Amino acid sequence: MTSPDLPAELKAALDGKLRGFSRSDAAGRAATISKTYRDGGGSGGIRSEADALAYALARMPATYAAVTASLNALCEIAPAFAPKSLLDIGAGPGTASWAAAETFSSLQDFTLLDANDALRKLALDLAGDSFRLRDVAYERGEARSLLSKAEAADLVIASYMIGEINESEQAALGALMWEKTRDTLLVVEPGTPAGYGRIIALRERLIAAGAHVAAPCPHDGKCPLQSPDWCHFTQRLQRSRAHKQVKGAELPFEDEKFAYVALTREPVAARASRVLAQPTVTKVEVTARLCTPTGVKLTRTPRRAKADYAVARRWRWGDAVSDER
Ligand SMILES: C[S@@+](CC[C@H](N)C(=O)[O-])C[C@H]1O[C@@H](n2cnc3c(N)ncnc32)[C@H](O)[C@@H]1O
Repeated sequence: MTSPDLPAELKAALDGKLRGFSRSDAAGRAATISKTYRDGGGSGGIRSEADALAYALARMPATYAAVTASLNALCEIAPAFAPKSLLDIGAGPGTASWAAAETFSSLQDFTLLDANDALRKLALDLAGDSFRLRDVAYERGEARSLLSKAEAADLVIASYMIGEINESEQAALGALMWEKTRDTLLVVEPGTPAGYGRIIALRERLIAAGAHVAAPCPHDGKCPLQSPDWCHFTQRLQRSRAHKQVKGAELPFEDEKFAYVALTREPVAARASRVLAQPTVTKVEVTARLCTPTGVKLTRTPRRAKADYAVARRWRWGDAVSDER
């Protein structure tokens, strides 16, 4: 399992960039960027080097943690997957590329695409001293037009990106990303009902185009969850001193909520059930809500079923588990 915390090399590169920048200025910029996101805006307001750094300090640890958690879930279901090439769509500061490089030692070719020049420049600076990432190809421009000219890759990732484009663009970009996927497409979004809605719409369209779900769903059927319920997960990450200062936060950790789907060309062999919320453990039983190949199930594992209870009490929200009894 890859750690959800930023690799030391990336932390050092971010700390290095921060030297010479005022942390209170970075905090002010990060607050403005976060407000824009909360109000439904995108990354268009990130224009300068200082904006890009503020974005990276405030958000990169959390989006990195969400991508890593999604890749860990994928690797659990498809342990033999060893991609050689990556396309990182809407790469921003390079978050998903760093997470994929940490997860897959097999990756050799990294192609990043993004429209934002300030984030592109920051990504290249951060990657500059990295043995794995210093030779990345980072194209600047509109994702669809760059992607249409790009070579297909074993792994394609769009992390916290599709929410910045409208529905018809999401459909067109989704189809194009799938066309350029040799093996696996991973899309990660914020764990809000809206983020989940975008994931589900893309999932449905691409299943109709022949894709199979590797994670989180244990089936390729319609999502059984109904509003106001939505499928999302959470990943805890440690906050560095700079991260706390820029976010004006006291707690040494943050819980990032995210939604994701990993779609593959070939169906995966294992179809494990997915834990949909943190199970309740009492001295009497473990109660867990699972998404199973046949629908959502509330399972109760009584303490008297000693071996099963010992297994179920270790289940965590987001885990892939076997619920055969
Ligand atoms: C919220 S940031 C996410 C960055 C990075 N993937 C991450 O997870 O940290 C969204 C990124 O998508 C890029 N983006 C949005 N719409 C785009 C488009 N139509 N073409 C290219 N890039 C786009 C933005 O410039 C921005 O860098």
